[in-house]
Amino acid sequence: MKALVISKNDHLQKEIATLVARQTSPISILPLNAELAEAFRLVTAHPPDLAIIDASNMERSQLSLVEALHSQYPHTAFMLLTPDQSPDLLLRAMRAGVREVLPLPLESQGFLEALDRAGKKIKPSIKNGKVMSFISCKGGSGATFLATNFGFALSTLAQKKVLLIDLNRQFGDAALYVSDKKPAMTLHDVCAQIHRIDPEFLESSLISVTPNFGLLAASDDPAHSAHIKPEHIATILQLARHYYDFIILDIDRQIDAVAIQALDDSDVIYPVLQLTMPYIRDTTRLLNIFQSLSYPREKIQLIVNRYEKRGELRLSDVRNAVGDSMLHTIPNNYKPVSDSINQGVPLLQLARNSAVARSLTALADQYANRQLVQSGGLISRLLNSRVQTMLSNG
Ligand SMILES: Nc1ncnc2c1ncn2[C@@H]1O[C@H](COP(=O)(O)OP(=O)(O)OP(=O)(O)O)[C@@H](O)[C@H]1O
Ligand SMILES: [Mg+2]
Repeated sequence: MKALVISKNDHLQKEIATLVARQTSPISILPLNAELAEAFRLVTAHPPDLAIIDASNMERSQLSLVEALHSQYPHTAFMLLTPDQSPDLLLRAMRAGVREVLPLPLESQGFLEALDRAGKKIKPSIKNGKVMSFISCKGGSGATFLATNFGFALSTLAQKKVLLIDLNRQFGDAALYVSDKKPAMTLHDVCAQIHRIDPEFLESSLISVTPNFGLLAASDDPAHSAHIKPEHIATILQLARHYYDFIILDIDRQIDAVAIQALDDSDVIYPVLQLTMPYIRDTTRLLNIFQSLSYPREKIQLIVNRYEKRGELRLSDVRNAVGDSMLHTIPNNYKPVSDSINQGVPLLQLARNSAVARSLTALADQYANRQLVQSGGLISRLLNSRVQTMLSNG
């Protein structure tokens, strides 16, 4: 449980920290040395589970701030500490959405019991995100296009919180596929300051494609790639799993220690190929590497991109070469895809009824809580309403 203590009283801050340290349940205390009005502006990106407010100097009129804060963060529980225990204040506090009003000076036992009650009522906000990697079986198969647009589909249609990390460490360009924003920070910058990593720092390093879809871009300087270490990736992914529903990795074909760390930590790997012999040959090689890394077969789902039913080679040729594998297909649709990439606008936004957009929706469908693909009508309605709303909010 994350508890924010808003008080300008250092003695009270210390007293609370000491009492909480005696608790067996895991509570992390964030002391905020500020008045409520100030705190109101500061508490934004990641709301705490519990806000403990020192109301010893608070005017009653300021209860409206607590009320506003409560409606902004409906999942945060509020606890007020005040010497004023009059029935009138208790009533007003309860109306403002405060769950507990405790007396000051603090009574240790009562405070610990209230903490315990708050802990039991709070739904854990920690997620258990899934890591999904896209990797080209041979250069130019469409891995970056699919990774970025799949992320967009998950965040807009399935309304999931998505993070994409561009792990093409030397020539990463994923950000350009879905955004015209310049990254303030890159994967290299985050790795260089890995000791600072927390949800706020990670979030602030991202390009915001939509309010639900953040992208950690690759550095422009290929020389930076040497500074990215496997342990950095492990740390970032471990943290990201708690705050994002899906973490998508765009991995280059250089299978070194960093790539192996990312692949090891992936729940699903999507190797992307096209239906030609050189691609099928390299897919077999890649799958052999995965076998030597002891990855279970279920972890790997091949994507045949630019698929044409009437092509010379068939899906059965892939199966014959690589054995039984989960296979997805994305159709060949040059014009809308190249328009989307050239303009840096997600395909679902630019050509929402194109065959590729529909296939991406179907792929995202596996991870949505409800079906996105039922009929053309439903897709159009979803795309029209949700994508447009998300974009106008972003
Ligand atoms: N489904 C598709 N239909 C038509 N063209 C496509 C499709 N998917 C990708 N392409 C084309 O393939 C090109 C390569 O795509 P992309 O850059 O995503 O590949 P990549 O595997 O990431 O390449 P690299 O190995 O260089 O990282 C794009 O410029 C795009 O025009
Ligand atoms: Mg790429």
